Amino acid sequence: MAEDLNNKDIYFPSYLGTNDKLITLLNRASQTLCEWLSKAEENGPLPFDGSFKCIMPTEDGNSEEDLFSEIESLLNNSFNPVHPGSLAHLDPPPLIFSILGDLIAAGLNNNLLAYELSPSVTLLEESLCKWFAKTIGFNEFSGGIVASGGTLSNLNALIAARNNAGLGKNPNSVLLVSEDAHSSFVKCIRVMGLDIKNLVRIKTDSQGRMDINDLRKSLNKCSIENKKIFAIVATLGTTVRGSIDPIKEISEICKQRNIWLHIDGSIGGIFALTSIPIEGLNNIKMANSITINPQKIIGITKTSSLLLVSNMSTLENTFNTGLPYISSKEDIINRGEIGIQGSRPAEVIKLWLGLRFLGLNGIENILKSSIKRKDYFIKNISKNKFDIYSGPLHIVSFLPKKLEPKDSDAWTQTKVNELINNNFMLSRPKFKGKYFLRVVMGNYNTKESHIKELLRLLDT
Ligand SMILES: Cc1ncc(COP(=O)(O)O)c(C=O)c1O
Repeated sequence: MAEDLNNKDIYFPSYLGTNDKLITLLNRASQTLCEWLSKAEENGPLPFDGSFKCIMPTEDGNSEEDLFSEIESLLNNSFNPVHPGSLAHLDPPPLIFSILGDLIAAGLNNNLLAYELSPSVTLLEESLCKWFAKTIGFNEFSGGIVASGGTLSNLNALIAARNNAGLGKNPNSVLLVSEDAHSSFVKCIRVMGLDIKNLVRIKTDSQGRMDINDLRKSLNKCSIENKKIFAIVATLGTTVRGSIDPIKEISEICKQRNIWLHIDGSIGGIFALTSIPIEGLNNIKMANSITINPQKIIGITKTSSLLLVSNMSTLENTFNTGLPYISSKEDIINRGEIGIQGSRPAEVIKLWLGLRFLGLNGIENILKSSIKRKDYFIKNISKNKFDIYSGPLHIVSFLPKKLEPKDSDAWTQTKVNELINNNFMLSRPKFKGKYFLRVVMGNYNTKESHIKELLRLLDT
């Protein structure tokens, strides 16, 4: 064990003096991280050597040298999102100011559970959620809560929706989502103590959007069967092809029938901060709640997800417990009282810094560039060879024409392996009984020359 470790002062930051030791270690860690990021070109998006050993804690702890060598090994065996061929998922390169935000949040170690444990960050989160809510068109009663990922934001929304409908324990309560909606809704239903039959799937049209006629049929069927609908989910950007459900029509139906409209804008919701003309965006202000995941396109480091609600009292009424072991201030809401999570890191700092650094023009620039890459890819991929599935966002799924569903597994697997050998990482989602190849054009480092090369490889 290193001698230094016997000196307790270095277990934790010092509250006196200069914290020289911490500064040295942070500098070294930054150096190590930046070297790894810059080696992406050499190493490709995925590591191949598999040499990382998961060494467990020892009796006396380990030396700095040991730990730095293990950090290096861990990095060298990690997925590298900054490589221009990292095009498989909604995991873009990290925004520089967001990396700094994570560092500050870790050093700060404040807790969003309560105002007294995070005074400035509580106010920051409240204000930023309100700013988002107002920017997308909600009124003064609106606001939101940060959560660790879109699944949790969706869950927060649906629990609030069910509570708002007074259906807490009703086994007849149902949720309506499209057949292309994200799998997190299956989890939500289970966590909410319901059965998979309480999740009603609405058909999608040829463009992957919720079919309004089928929605109307399902609503009538629910009413005949005495099912109580606590929410309809409209997806703003489906996972496999980036389609957008007809939000205007769905919101009108919800209004007529007094049903909570939740928009899963995990992928597309962030476009509402820009003037990019995306269908349905003008109507999102009709929703009761919307999930937005800034981690998915603009590079806010994971996790970063927001649930915005048109009326904050719906979250307060659903989640408030009184938090008996915490002193509260009358005019300030403890953030652990308006969502499912209790203790929570100051994740909002990296979102705030990222957005402040980019500004609205920077956000628009990143999003426009994603669409431009997608458009270039679609324009140039062989239409004779492939069937293309894509919506208005930056995601494209495709498959060779006339490929039998049973052959899609082997074809996509072979192609994914071939591509990764050439430093392009694509995904192979299973969708409607077949496997597809999917490319997600959210990587700012991917240039036209890379896309040309990818197209060439796909054509061989
Ligand atoms: C449309 C959609 N909703 C929700 C989620 C879940 O988000 P998370 O993985 O952050 O929990 C995803 C994830 O890809 C998604 O694509």
